[in-house]
Amino acid sequence: MNSICIFGVFVADLCFFAEKIPAKGETVLGKNHLVGPGGKGSNQAISAARLNGNVNFITKIGKDNHADMALKLYQEAGVKTSSIIQDENLSTGVAGIMIDENGNNAINIISGAAEQLNNQDIDKNLDILKKSKIFLTQMETPDEVTIYSLKKAKENECITVLNPAPARNINKDDFSLLDFFTPNETEAEFYLNKKIKSEQDIKDAANEFLKKGVKNIIITLGEKGVYFANKNEEYFIDALKLKDEVVDTTGAGDAFNGAFVVALANEFKYKEALQFANKVAGISTTRLGAASSMPNLKEVEDY
Ligand code: RIB
Repeated sequence: MNSICIFGVFVADLCFFAEKIPAKGETVLGKNHLVGPGGKGSNQAISAARLNGNVNFITKIGKDNHADMALKLYQEAGVKTSSIIQDENLSTGVAGIMIDENGNNAINIISGAAEQLNNQDIDKNLDILKKSKIFLTQMETPDEVTIYSLKKAKENECITVLNPAPARNINKDDFSLLDFFTPNETEAEFYLNKKIKSEQDIKDAANEFLKKGVKNIIITLGEKGVYFANKNEEYFIDALKLKDEVVDTTGAGDAFNGAFVVALANEFKYKEALQFANKVAGISTTRLGAASSMPNLKEVEDY
């Protein structure tokens, strides 16, 4: 299968489950607590690897207990780790995540060692980019390095996918680096500086991204599914009807992006790739945790 290179962050997620996410100044009594693997890039790498993707992950971690959790996870999932930089002088990142009884969350992430990723770390892994068909990244790594990685991926003829999470500024000239851009509604609102409410708003937003130079736009809409547009076609795809209750939406976007690049690597048609990614994301919301909630291929086929 075509190989996939993912660049991003690993952190340990400290998850607190309660009836509600505390408001400013409020203390709530939680119900449950777990510490598990997270970080958007790492979650996407796990999503892709559990679906039998051939995945290299580029990141930076420390040499501590959280780093050990990451390396064990990659070994179990079959993520290739030669591109993972370990620095004993740095601490692996952490995220504090509050989850309410409907599975909604609020996240504060400290990228830790991954904040020190730099352009040389990308250059050191150019051989991997050269061999990869697809390059996927997000926006938890330093902005300049994220853009540099996309430029290098393009130079090496990869199909580029940017999941702009968390939404941060992108220079107008850099949108043309993106073969696929995968914001959710809130992230799309950030880039277009306007509210997106109706179906027409979503279609208009997609057009604006195409005008900015993005080749294919995918706006993920949570329980409403996903909207796709490029210069030839545009359509909505409904979310999967779940058999189980939603317990934790943390990492659902990551499940989607990881599954989508596996489908691209398998040369699925775009609509099939999106249906597959929707299904994987849906299943992930019925399980607790971020990386821990990513289903394997058999579980997806059987669902
Ligand atoms: O997308 C979910 C992820 O965002 C969590 O795992 C958390 O670590 C943050 O990076």
